[in-house]
Amino acid sequence: MNIVVAQADAEGQGDSIVVPVATGLTWGPGADWVVDEHGPELIRHLRDQRFKGKHAQVATVTAKEGFPFKRIVFIGVGDECRAEGLRQAAATAARAVARDETVFTTLHLVDVPEGSSAECVAFGFLLGQYRFEKYLSRPKPSRTRELTLAYAKDIATAVNRGRIVAEAVAMARDLVNEPAIAKPPAKLADIAVAMGQSAGLNVQVYDRAEIFEAGFGGLAAVAAGSTNPPRMVVMKYEPADATKTLVLVGKGIVFDSGGLSIKSASGMEKMKVDMAGAAAVFAALKAVAELELPVNVTGIAPLTENMPGGNALRPGDVFRARNGKTVEVLNTDAEGRLVLADALSLAAEGNPDLIVDIATLTGAVSVALGPKTAGLFANSDEVAMSLLAAAEKAGESLWRLPLDMSFRRAIRSNIADMKNVGRRQGSPIAAAVFLSEFVDGTPWAHIDMAEPAHTSSRRGYLSKGATGFGVRTLVELAAAFAE
Ligand code: BES
Ligand code: MN
Ligand code: ZN
Repeated sequence: MNIVVAQADAEGQGDSIVVPVATGLTWGPGADWVVDEHGPELIRHLRDQRFKGKHAQVATVTAKEGFPFKRIVFIGVGDECRAEGLRQAAATAARAVARDETVFTTLHLVDVPEGSSAECVAFGFLLGQYRFEKYLSRPKPSRTRELTLAYAKDIATAVNRGRIVAEAVAMARDLVNEPAIAKPPAKLADIAVAMGQSAGLNVQVYDRAEIFEAGFGGLAAVAAGSTNPPRMVVMKYEPADATKTLVLVGKGIVFDSGGLSIKSASGMEKMKVDMAGAAAVFAALKAVAELELPVNVTGIAPLTENMPGGNALRPGDVFRARNGKTVEVLNTDAEGRLVLADALSLAAEGNPDLIVDIATLTGAVSVALGPKTAGLFANSDEVAMSLLAAAEKAGESLWRLPLDMSFRRAIRSNIADMKNVGRRQGSPIAAAVFLSEFVDGTPWAHIDMAEPAHTSSRRGYLSKGATGFGVRTLVELAAAFAE
């Protein structure tokens, strides 16, 4: 879809015009003109539809003969529209006009107290029309090919930013929505290489032999039960003007059966999402490179399946991770932390300014925080604050949980440096404390996003399935880091 920025004196025409209305039928920019042209009948029509301009309420009206648009779409922006509200409103409007080829709007003229309205509208509109339809015999893609933002000046950069981030989120969603059979580690690594090349990144991929050679014992252990060989992907964005370095680590389990500690059938069917962390990292790197942010960003993604098989990792097995520490595996379904152990060790070796890992790590974090909010752990208040600020700006929900080092006792092993599970109570904390053993004191944050990575209901700019959670927070973090 092409987004056109029209100048103040440009006259619009097209299939539909999208105009904002605040609570109590308070006409927003552009709406008053449309209403003046149509007279009281239109207002009666809106009242009949019980349209009041409440947030994300939408009403479509056929325009009168001779009007330069066929349809008028009124979109509610509520009482006090904030950036996130505007993104949601734009997405709702985008769905209402998905069958229209040319759309004209004044929605970006609604001011929000924080951020750029044009960026929010571009972002929300593009993602509102996101669909994953590649396996449908009869896809119904959106028909919109041109969105014109009316009466605007100096918004081209903001629109471009909205587009870059929306496209990155869509890429992450595509990867996560893909069934596991279509994304074995080798193929996912190839996709990462192709993406990295087109974005100008330096991408390195370790194959199975190189994984053993590099001492990635956790990744090798989890991969042992799968006939699809693992990969470790390392991608680097290194602009000339950068001084600081951020490393992003993403869990890339392309399917999590639980391994020999096998999951019950009812919990297993959605486990293709278990590489959402890796997808978020790939997508964030793409966006950071396209935005040309002046900061070094490295992405690390351990990719494997977690399968039971003749050679599978057994409960009671011990392996040595990249940093030399040994781990006794008591539950093969706590596999994410095993592959992250190697990835975090590798990240820490470069002494970066900050490491952030993102992973669909524990079901328990959603018991605590619900479906929309991811858990945040950090080894300093300063790091935690920077992530919370980035998430707030991005419109994603993070909540800090305690990195309570007294949990270290719960993961003491009799025969190795640690074991991979503790007690049931506080299991997301135990997982975070386990991970902290591999960052070597580097400033670090851990995002546990098991539930927010996917959704079963369509709301705002989210469609059913993968959400692309984390991409925006990571991009905002990199942007803040670049300042
Ligand atoms: N991949 C799962 C976590 C998960 C749950 C992701 C729901 C997406 C949706 C993870 O590997 C896992 O199995 N975690 C276990 C940990 C336990 C064995 C300590 C869990 O949450 O039960
Ligand atoms: Mn698991
Ligand atoms: Zn998992």
